[in-house]
Amino acid sequence: MPAIETHDLKKVYYSHKKQPGVWGAMKGLFSREKTEVEAVKGINLTIQQGELVGFLGPNGAGKTTTLKMLSGILYPSSGEAKVLGYRPWERKAEMLRNISLVMGNKMQLWWDLPAWDSFLVLKELYEVDDAQFKRRSERLIETLQLSDKIHTQVRKLSLGERMKCELVAALLHSPQVVFLDEPTIGLDVVSQKRIRDFLKELHQEDGCTIILTSHYMQDVQELCERVVVINSGEMIFDGALDALANRFSDSRRIQLTFSSPVLAADAEGFGRVVEHTDLTATIEVPRAQTAATASRILQALPVEDVSIEDVEFDEVIRALFEEDRRDTL
Ligand SMILES: Nc1ncnc2c1ncn2[C@@H]1O[C@H](COP(=O)(O)OP(=O)(O)OP(=O)(O)O)[C@@H](O)[C@H]1O
Ligand SMILES: [Mg+2]
Repeated sequence: MPAIETHDLKKVYYSHKKQPGVWGAMKGLFSREKTEVEAVKGINLTIQQGELVGFLGPNGAGKTTTLKMLSGILYPSSGEAKVLGYRPWERKAEMLRNISLVMGNKMQLWWDLPAWDSFLVLKELYEVDDAQFKRRSERLIETLQLSDKIHTQVRKLSLGERMKCELVAALLHSPQVVFLDEPTIGLDVVSQKRIRDFLKELHQEDGCTIILTSHYMQDVQELCERVVVINSGEMIFDGALDALANRFSDSRRIQLTFSSPVLAADAEGFGRVVEHTDLTATIEVPRAQTAATASRILQALPVEDVSIEDVEFDEVIRALFEEDRRDTL
């Protein structure tokens, strides 16, 4: 049985349009215009137990909405989903005990209590037995280097420390399926890396199924082999991360080091020059012509060293969302 399965899962939000200004509000009293947002337009997804899948897409693509439906806090408008064999929105205790949702921009811990107190409440809520709680909490707290923070009121912790406490809270009951919605948002690069390393370890040791959304490509590149890309509520890619870069980007970069200075103008004849100094240049060329262009360059310019690279993954993603490239995928 797959850990997660969806069939044509859809969500439409209905809301009343607010007219601007006082006059608009007055008018709104009499005739309310209803607007519809098709946030998720029919997603078919199968995720096997133990997979770690990156869920990518620009702002407003429908990622959070999908994760909310899968974790049972939102009813879909239509379609079907099964998580560990259960319909998430029926909120069966057995399912809730085995999943977890972490939202990077929505703290779930009690603000005025030390994190430890929240952990104890969660222990009761999830009926985690004493020995298991001890083992689990010690391990999580140690790995995230939190032991001197858990007795401080959550409100007094830094953003990164709070996020780590959120993770402990969400993982105390050893969920089999973990939904992580931007767990590294707003954190500095060091904290981001800590959390990434932690998630990597957690995934390896627990063998849990993880869906992760993040706008930080580093997270995705380091953690996810498989990615699902969603744009305007529609799935536009599902496959290996490498394949995404290959399939989407139709160019490659030839990086050159010269033995004597070369003018930018001389490099420009071979492709789009993206970087140039006297002794180096990076030239972007169509993927299909990489080899031919490289050999022409070697004959024409005083090349000391050459390397050929794919366009940076960040750029692939950025370009993917800037224009509608659905047809090319
Ligand atoms: N409660 C709501 N009522 C009405 N519309 C909503 C509601 N929540 C989300 N939306 C709309 O649904 C769409 C999808 O939103 P969602 O939060 O799922 O996107 P997202 O992919 O998580 O984006 P982000 O990367 O910014 O977090 C957006 O157009 C958003 O404005
Ligand atoms: Mg979101």
